[in-house]
Amino acid sequence: MSIICTVFFLQVCLQALLPVNADWTARTPRSLMALKDSCLVIPCTFNYPGQSKPQSDITAIWYQNEYTILYQSDKPETQGRAALVGNLEHKNCSLWIKQVKKEDGVSYKLRLEIRNLDKYSFPSSPHVTVQERPTDPQLLGYRSDLTEGELLTITCRTTHTCIVNPPTLLWQPQFDMVQEEHRMLGEGEWEVVSKQTFLVSANHHQKAVSCKAQYPSGQEARITGKTFSVLYKPEILPESNCVFHYRQFECQCLVRSNPSAVITWYLSDRKVKQTDVDISLNFNLSSSMTRSLLVGPTSLGANISCTASNKLGVTQLGFHGYGSWYQSWIVPTAAAVGALFILLFTAAVIGCIWKRRKKDQIKKDPDIAVLKTARQEKIKNGIHSKESFLTANSTELYVNVDFIKFSKHRKSAPSSGKKSSEGSYQSVFSDRYDDAIYQNY
Ligand SMILES: *[C@@H]1O[C@H](CO)[C@@H](O)[C@H](O)[C@H]1NC(C)=O
Ligand SMILES: *[C@@H]1O[C@H](CO)[C@@H](O)[C@H](O)[C@H]1NC(C)=O
Ligand SMILES: *[C@@H]1O[C@H](CO)[C@@H](O)[C@H](O)[C@H]1NC(C)=O
Repeated sequence: MSIICTVFFLQVCLQALLPVNADWTARTPRSLMALKDSCLVIPCTFNYPGQSKPQSDITAIWYQNEYTILYQSDKPETQGRAALVGNLEHKNCSLWIKQVKKEDGVSYKLRLEIRNLDKYSFPSSPHVTVQERPTDPQLLGYRSDLTEGELLTITCRTTHTCIVNPPTLLWQPQFDMVQEEHRMLGEGEWEVVSKQTFLVSANHHQKAVSCKAQYPSGQEARITGKTFSVLYKPEILPESNCVFHYRQFECQCLVRSNPSAVITWYLSDRKVKQTDVDISLNFNLSSSMTRSLLVGPTSLGANISCTASNKLGVTQLGFHGYGSWYQSWIVPTAAAVGALFILLFTAAVIGCIWKRRKKDQIKKDPDIAVLKTARQEKIKNGIHSKESFLTANSTELYVNVDFIKFSKHRKSAPSSGKKSSEGSYQSVFSDRYDDAIYQNY
C-alpha cells in the first residue's frame, strides 16, 4: 500500500518539476550527407502534448540556417524545391529536398504551429553536408585467386540519402542473375546492395569485374576489382590438327591452361619420347598457351593422340580418325581413280589408232578419189538436181558414212559391198541418177 502511494506521489512530483513543453519532441539525425543534384530525405518525427490534432490544424516550417524558410506546409509557393514526405497527422515531419544544391549544406530547424495549442521551435538541428561527387561503391567478397568450378559471390554496395530516387548498381561484366536490395541503415542513410554469384570457369581468367553506381542525376562512381587469376584444367583448342602428307604427318596440339600444361603424344597407345627415331617433337610455351608439334612418318600415324595435363586435370584429343581415314579411304580411292584413268586413256588410244587406220584405208582406195572429180563433173553438167545436191553440204552428206563406194555402173553397185563385211547398202539417190552413192545404215 505504502509503496504504491510513494510511486504515485513521485510521479506527481516529477510532472510538476518538468517543464510544460515536456511533450514537444522531434527526432532527426544529427548529421546527414547529401549528393549534389541528387535528392535528400531528412527523416523526422515529432510529438506534442495533449490529444492528436488533424493535419489541417498543424503547420510545419523547415528553416535553413535558423531563419530562411525552405518549406512551409501552408504556403504552396515554398513547395517547389522541397516537400513533406511524412504525414503530419501521423507526427511524421520528414522533409524531401528534390534537387540538392551546394547551398543546402547547412543546418536545418523545424517549427510547428498547432492551432488551439501552441507554437514550438525544436532545438534539434540536423546538419547537412553536400558532396560534389558520389563516393565510390565497395566490392565485398571479391577474390582474385580462383579455381575453376568454385562458386564466387561478389557484392557491390553503396550508400545514399535519397530513397525517393536511389542510385542503380551495374556490373561490368555481369556473369549471372543479379539480386538487388535496398536497406535502411538508420539516421536517413540507405544502402543499395547488388549481388551476383557465378561458377568460376576458364573464361573468367584474366578478367576483372567492375561495379558502377549510376545516379538519376547522371553522376557515376565506379570500382574495379583485381584481375582474376583462375586455375583451370587444360583445354585443347580446336585449332589442333594433323596434316597427312605422302611421307610424313604433322600434328599440332594447342593447349590453353593455368598453370601451363605438360603435353604428351601417343602413337597407337605408345608414348612418344623425345629420343624416338624418325620423330620430331617440339614444344612452345607462352603464359597460358602451350603448343606442341609432332612430325613423324605416315606409317606411324594411324592412331595419334595428344594428352595435356596440369594439376587440375587431364584432357585428351585423338587424331586416329585422320590416320585411319588416310589409310582406309584415300589409298583405295586413289587406286580406283588411277585405274579408271588408265582404262580411259587406253580406250582413247585404241580408238585413235582404229580411226587413223580407217582414214588410211579410204585414202588408199582409188575409187574414192574418183568420187570427188566425178561428182564435180556431174554437178557441172547439171545432171543432178541442183537443189538436192548443192543445198546439201557435202560434209553433211557424208556424216555417218562408214564406207562409200562410187561406181559408174549403178547395177554393179550392190556388189561393191565387198569393202565392208557388215551392214547393208542403200541407195542415197533415186534410180534416176546413174551415179549412186551407197550409205551404210
Ligand atoms: C515518415 O514518412 C516517411 C515517408 O512516408 C516514411 O518513409 C517513414 O518511415 C515515416 N517515419 C515513421 C517513423 O513512420
Ligand atoms: C612460340 O609461340 C609464340 C606465340 O604463339 C610465337 O610467336 C613464337 O614464334 C613461337 N616460337 C616457336 C619457336 O615456335
Ligand atoms: C586408337 O587408340 C584408341 C585409344 O587410344 C583405341 O581405343 C583404339 O582402339 C585405337 N585404334 C586403333 C586402330 O589402333
